[in-house]
Parts: sequence; structure tokens; C-alpha cells
Amino acid sequence: MKTIYFISPFCNLIKCFTSVSILDRAEKKKIVKYEYYNLFDFSDDSNNRIDDYPYGGGDGMVLRANPIFNAFDKIKNNRSKKKFRVIYPTPDGEKLDLNLSKKLALEDNIVFICGHYKGIDQRVRDTIVTDEISIGDYILTGGELPSCIIIDSIVRLIPGVLNTIESAETDSFNDGLLDTDYYTRPDTIRGLKVPEVLVSGNHKEIKKWREERKVEKTKLKRSDLYINYIKNKKK
Ligand code: ADE
Repeated sequence: MKTIYFISPFCNLIKCFTSVSILDRAEKKKIVKYEYYNLFDFSDDSNNRIDDYPYGGGDGMVLRANPIFNAFDKIKNNRSKKKFRVIYPTPDGEKLDLNLSKKLALEDNIVFICGHYKGIDQRVRDTIVTDEISIGDYILTGGELPSCIIIDSIVRLIPGVLNTIESAETDSFNDGLLDTDYYTRPDTIRGLKVPEVLVSGNHKEIKKWREERKVEKTKLKRSDLYINYIKNKKK
């Protein structure tokens, strides 16, 4: 079973996310286990502070190294033989994409360190963090939501988590293209009809239509992907 550990001052935020839908099901099926380490429980400060002013001055606060090191020591305790992938979500990290999620889905022990304010003491990044990951070029107030996004993208790829009906194989990006369009019953609503081919029962034609929609959509919405797709097709 894989274990995903979270070090955060706001573990409840993450619990809300992991306790519903597919992430919750993955835990109930005993495919993954989530463990939460509240940063406030690991402060060595008499006032229980987990942050402090940055050396050299400047705006904002920095999460102190010691509570994070202490929490990580607790995780490693009795698990010394285990290899940990330690992820720090940060806007200056490597951009998350499907390939990175696939690689992370192979790992057995993943630790997330959720930063706040100006981030975490650089010495944590320099010593225990193995992966710095960005979820996009914008700034959120903390690392909890990025951690949730990253684990969501990982857990759904672990064999046994999705039903075949929800299979990840047809997702966007798997073949370098965006996914096709989907419709469900009824076949007409407010005068809007489902494309005829989808109700024709002709599976060959349906497959062809879906492929065409993927290419059209990718060309229209993501020219960067489309250019790569065409290049790879010519090879
Ligand atoms: N923390 C704050 N903003 C972030 C982002 N864009 N990606 C990852 N972690 C973050």
C-alpha cells in the first residue's frame, strides 16, 4: 500500500479533500493511506510559532525549518529503510503535467510539505525536498490546494483506483491530444441534439468522429500540443 504524508499547519483542509469521492475510495480499498502531520505539533518554540521574519528583512513571513524537520523525522521514525519522495509545491518548481504524475504514481511513500506566506526556510528545500512542483503560473495562499491537486492527479493513475468505466486511458494528454466531446441522455434537450453519429450504433464511425474531434479541438485550443502531434505523426 502507498502512503501519502502531509506536513501542514492546516491539515483539515486536506482531509476535506481526501475524504470524498475517488481519493476516499482509494483509501477504503486500501490502495493508499493518508497521514497528516500538523506543523503546530512540531514547534520547538515556547509560543508554538511555526513562522518567523525573513533574515535580511523584507515583507512576509517564512515557515521555520525546525517544525518541518521534526515532522519529517517523525514520519521517518521506524521507517528508516523506506525511500521517500518529498514534494514541496511552489510556484518556482517544475510544472506539473501528466508525465510527472505518472512517474509519481509509481512511488510508495510521498511526503507533501505545504508552505505558507513567503514559503519555507531554504535549508529544508536544500536537504529533504526531492521535488519542487508548480501547478501553474499563479500564486495561491498556501501549499494545501496545490498538494490536493497533485495527489488527485497521482492517485487516480494508481492501478485499481478507477473503475474501467472511469478509465484514465482516454484522458486528455495521453496521446498528446485533448479529449473528445461527450454527451449523455436525453438525445435532445432544449432543442439541442446529440451529434447523429453517436446514436447511430456504428462503432467504426463513432471512433473516427471522436478521433477527429480530438484533433480539431487540440488544433483550436492548444496549438502547442497540435504542432507536436503533427511532428510526431510525420516521424
Ligand atoms: N504555492 C502557491 N502557489 C503555488 C503554485 N502556483 N504552484 C505550487 N505551489 C504553490
